[in-house]
Amino acid sequence: MKIGRLNHIGVATPSIEQSVATYRDVLGASAIGTPFDMPEQGVRVCFVDAPNCQIELIEPLGADSPIVNFLAKNPLGGQHHVCFEVADIDEAREWFEGKGARILGDTRIGAHGTPIFFLHPKDMGGVLTEIMETPKQAH
Ligand code: CO
Repeated sequence: MKIGRLNHIGVATPSIEQSVATYRDVLGASAIGTPFDMPEQGVRVCFVDAPNCQIELIEPLGADSPIVNFLAKNPLGGQHHVCFEVADIDEAREWFEGKGARILGDTRIGAHGTPIFFLHPKDMGGVLTEIMETPKQAH
């Protein structure tokens, strides 16, 4: 297994609207997607394109959202996870299991519509790490 490109950095925020304003008005980002709900993941998501990577803004959706605790500790929001692409998600899962890295839950469909899973930050140097299968279309 070989790690692929950094696809996005997940940034938790209490307000996608406020964060979008910061990326647009302060950082000068011009390619900002439309926010959308992912009820099965408990988050609302909005992608901001930088030239080499995306920022994935994630806002809690519902009281039992998985990022509620993160925002309780980081009320302004903050860096939540990094996401690397792999060619084959099943091969990657087997690889990480073989390395003893804990995988958080099942492989599921992520915000890009491709399969993803998360690796426990305690096995990844303190960084919550998302692994996603590379979208079939080129970027
Ligand atoms: Co992500």
